[in-house]
Amino acid sequence: MKNADIKMIKVTQEKGIAALQSGDFATAVSCFQAAGEVEPGNAVIPYNLAQALDASGRPGEAIIQATNALARDRALHPAARLLTRLLSHFRLRNPCSIDPAGLCAAFGFIDVDHQVLGPTALTYLKQCTALGDALFLGGTKGWNSGARWLLSSKGKAVLRDPLLRTALCAAANTDLDIECLLTAVRKALLMSSPKDTLRKAHILEFACVLVRQGEINEYVFAVSGEEQNRLDGMFINMQGLRDGSRAAADSLLLKALYYPLWYLLGENARDIDGRQIRPKALGDLITTQMAEKAAAVETAQKIEALGTIGDETSRNVARLYEESPYPRWLSLQTPAEGGHRDQLSQYFPENDLTFMDTPFKVLIAGSGTGQQATDAAIGYGPKAAITAIDISLASLAYAKRMAGRFGVENLHFMQCDILNASLLEDTFDIIECVGVLHHMGDPQNGWKILGERLRAGGLMKIGLYSRAARRTIASLRDDIQVRNSCGDEPSIRAYRQDIIAQGDRGKGAFLRQSADFYTLGNFRDLMFHVSEQHLAIPDMADFMADNGLTFQGFQVPPDIDEGAPDGEGLRDLGRWHEFECVHKDTFKGMYVFWCRKE
Ligand SMILES: C[S@@+](CC[C@H](N)C(=O)[O-])C[C@H]1O[C@@H](n2cnc3c(N)ncnc32)[C@H](O)[C@@H]1O
Repeated sequence: MKNADIKMIKVTQEKGIAALQSGDFATAVSCFQAAGEVEPGNAVIPYNLAQALDASGRPGEAIIQATNALARDRALHPAARLLTRLLSHFRLRNPCSIDPAGLCAAFGFIDVDHQVLGPTALTYLKQCTALGDALFLGGTKGWNSGARWLLSSKGKAVLRDPLLRTALCAAANTDLDIECLLTAVRKALLMSSPKDTLRKAHILEFACVLVRQGEINEYVFAVSGEEQNRLDGMFINMQGLRDGSRAAADSLLLKALYYPLWYLLGENARDIDGRQIRPKALGDLITTQMAEKAAAVETAQKIEALGTIGDETSRNVARLYEESPYPRWLSLQTPAEGGHRDQLSQYFPENDLTFMDTPFKVLIAGSGTGQQATDAAIGYGPKAAITAIDISLASLAYAKRMAGRFGVENLHFMQCDILNASLLEDTFDIIECVGVLHHMGDPQNGWKILGERLRAGGLMKIGLYSRAARRTIASLRDDIQVRNSCGDEPSIRAYRQDIIAQGDRGKGAFLRQSADFYTLGNFRDLMFHVSEQHLAIPDMADFMADNGLTFQGFQVPPDIDEGAPDGEGLRDLGRWHEFECVHKDTFKGMYVFWCRKE
């Protein structure tokens, strides 16, 4: 590049940055566009342009530029954060304009939410690549035809697509057509001779991608009777595996499309050295999955327990979450360090928050797998000492390992029933309890016990299921009871298949829009919970009045209908109740709100 061009880019970039900082976004956009034309390979210019476009209220174009930036520099972390933040609230109308290499690069960071990137990646692949041809064929001629096409030479480019492979290895698929196609591909692999499939490098590699997707979605895909018979008749030849037999490896790999490797290998796993297994791709899967399992067991053993879990509901609920820790998160869009104080200032006057200037204590009650607790540890910042309790050891072990990946040091996990919270030595400045109390036998008793652990003037965040918003789910759950389903994996899969077969007009069709539909554990949590209660706003208002808590405001859902309380009305539970009686789906996730102890 000529010296004059280098100088021009520098000056134009500086002018653009100054314009961005001063709020002159139109000038910033034109400066970065001009600089980008002179040096198209520079990654920082499209990143700056993305920021300027975002600030100008042009999120779609900002998304495209963020992918351009990442395609030029895969390590450009701020571009990945910006891209994910934008995608969390904006859906691209024309995904074909993004740079797929840039989107693919964003999955390389653990502190961006892969579950947010996933749907855009899948939409891009559906609409802008030959995956769309396979889906069209599947949708019109049957999914088995689509699968055959993919496994033929015509589908090679699709199976090798780095974005498809990356997305399926990083996040649960949330697209029903893609699920149908992948289910058919998996079946075709199981029913064919490995000589025609797994011996081809790209198919073997894609089979490993499907193994990983199965692990992530907890084997939610439908299993036909034909497949089950084939699986039941396949045995794992351990000696063959150790001796490097390809046939033994093929059988294990095919079974690993349906069950976790640690389950298939069982006790024998200790004698297997993944590094000696051929093909190497299978050996790597074994090494990773076994190491994960061993680490989970070891971590669980080291978690401190406080009190015993004697309550019958708590024991039943603990059993559910031992089997299905919730949620199985793999990445997190982390908040800014200490950034939660700004969010709290939307609910509380500054006077109520001065305790955050010095060390303070936070309790996360029912922390599950630690996503909320890790977010809190970072968001409340290093002055906060966080205690996270849960009844499920498997969830706590998952939580502790994930928190370790984010390097948080101000977070302590403990196995403790909320009913035993009086055994905690501390009282807390902040208590968060989201998605937990409604699973207790007596939610209000649980809430009361937590209230006693909050210091006077302390802040409390509560998340509870809304009776109004859960009415349809409640009615579907009644149907499930009629089926006498026990909530085991085959019955959950069978129920999902019924929902899918009912099509768009079925009573449960709306469930397909929920990300929880696409992971077995999350779907169990949504539809097959062993203990679930729903509350209404007057119940919560009465409870707070009786227990010295003042309501400080709901976390208002972003897609709320017009006419919702605002201004002074934001803190008026009577007005919210009136609104919810008309707009019943307002709190379809759950009520999430802040209150303060007098
Ligand atoms: C749906 S998960 C929510 C996890 C987390 N709060 C979140 O929002 O991601 C519910 C969690 O509450 C825990 N839980 C249920 N009853 C509990 C109790 N009595 N004491 C402590 N934890 C409980 C469960 O074990 C489970 O991990």
